[in-house]
Amino acid sequence: LSSIQVDISGVEEGTQLTVKWLGKPVFIRHRTQEEIDRARADDGAALIDHQSQNPNKPGSNADDINRTLDDEGRWLVQIGVCTHLGCVPIGDGAGDYQGWFCPCHGSHYDASGRIRRGPAPQNMHIPVAAFLDDTTIKLG
Ligand code: FES
Repeated sequence: LSSIQVDISGVEEGTQLTVKWLGKPVFIRHRTQEEIDRARADDGAALIDHQSQNPNKPGSNADDINRTLDDEGRWLVQIGVCTHLGCVPIGDGAGDYQGWFCPCHGSHYDASGRIRRGPAPQNMHIPVAAFLDDTTIKLG
């Protein structure tokens, strides 16, 4: 199946659900207000990759609002694959930027999934995704 529907009704704030889609893990994170504020405060930081890497907003910059599925920024949906050599990063506030950390060669991603330090060249990629209703996300 090239597209799947995911029920997110059980994903509490501050946690994430990992689903498999097209053979890859997809991280669906329900961010807290603190995570949203931190991610947005870092929009002006020295980012390594200035592209949102979000096919749902083609050509947009890496501001946090261009990375999330909703404008409020509660839902961050990303392909859980390190853009260096493809390991699966550890989440739940890991790494120096309290986002995700890839232990393979030490790439640190922030609360928006943007690469901030280490060998990975790009922000974690966003899949084609959309809300079907308040509690259902369609991938693909
Ligand atoms: Fe993630 Fe190398 S694969 S840092």
